[in-house]
Amino acid sequence: MIIGIIGCGKQAPKHIKGFRASGIEEIRVCDLDQERADMLANALGVTAVADVQTLLSSGVDAVSICTPTPTHEKLIRQCITANVHWMCEKPLCEDVATAEALLAETNAANLVGAVGWVYRHVPALKQGKMLVEEQQTEDAALGDITSAIFRIGGRGSAMAWKHYSAQGGGAIQEMMVHMIDLAQWYFGPPEEVKLLERELRRPTRTIQGETLEVDAEDWVLASLKFKGGVSVLIQADLTTPAFTQYIELHGENGSFVGSIQPEHASFIFLNEARSQWPAGRTALEVQPHNLYHSQMSAFVNDIQKSTRETADTLKDSVEVMRTVKKLN
Ligand SMILES: NC(=O)c1ccc[n+]([C@@H]2O[C@H](COP(=O)([O-])OP(=O)(O)OC[C@H]3O[C@@H](n4cnc5c(N)ncnc54)[C@H](O)[C@@H]3O)[C@@H](O)[C@H]2O)c1
Repeated sequence: MIIGIIGCGKQAPKHIKGFRASGIEEIRVCDLDQERADMLANALGVTAVADVQTLLSSGVDAVSICTPTPTHEKLIRQCITANVHWMCEKPLCEDVATAEALLAETNAANLVGAVGWVYRHVPALKQGKMLVEEQQTEDAALGDITSAIFRIGGRGSAMAWKHYSAQGGGAIQEMMVHMIDLAQWYFGPPEEVKLLERELRRPTRTIQGETLEVDAEDWVLASLKFKGGVSVLIQADLTTPAFTQYIELHGENGSFVGSIQPEHASFIFLNEARSQWPAGRTALEVQPHNLYHSQMSAFVNDIQKSTRETADTLKDSVEVMRTVKKLN
């Protein structure tokens, strides 16, 4: 199987390593900036080609799109026309109608299309999902979950586009969508969406040595209410110097805290023993885990073995766009 990578910036090396760990030996890359493609090719021993069309007609079976968000729609359509399976970095696109059309066109072409919701591959956050699903049983560890907090904050990027609204930047598209997808993966589509705060706290930023006046929001707070009354508060930003991500789930019998960061404590605390968990605090042992290996091997398996592990990442992206629309 031959994989192509479009866009040779921050995400591309993670995708290449994930594909390599999934047994893919032949990888071709391209970028609008040929120098970037050549540098990545030299650093990771892959092949650089001239442009997207050359890549798509070079015999690749599937492509991974690692470019800024406003470019995703056109690149996905080029993959569909070339009859090439595709995976795209998050968020899928910028509006609901485009998300619905890309889902329909991919299915009509009988191709695998997947979106890189990498937080779904985090072991501690998968544990959170199991605790939510367990709610259907009488012995549910946390009992009825009533509230949750999902947080993601980072310092912002070295790339200017991530701080301009018209270029697909901002804390909603860059950060919050990860937590929206996670909350909806746990609880389904929200019944109510409220934007509580949306601010630009650092309008002047120095990016790659240049001082710029940026315009995209860098601090957001939203409240999502789900069926059964679960209320999730989501905070996301591009102003936190030390990257911080965690979620809290709180039920009538206990709490769960989980994170993508292995150095962050992930634990379950129960008032009374339930399910397989004792009363009190149980630390979750989280082994180091290559998230991009899980993500890419699910995609590769869907293509090679006709499994459907990544199908929901595309379908659910339509719901993410519906929620984002309500925040705008
Ligand atoms: N999953 C995650 O945790 C995560 C983290 C960061 C970024 N992302 C997402 O990944 C995507 C890429 O982000 P990044 O940080 O790698 O960006 P980046 O700016 O570091 O790299 C993007 C690259 O794409 C190239 N490019 C732009 N338009 C192109 C086109 N039409 N054809 C070919 N190449 C093109 C640029 O020249 C650049 O080298 C975005 O959608 C972003 O939201 C996801």
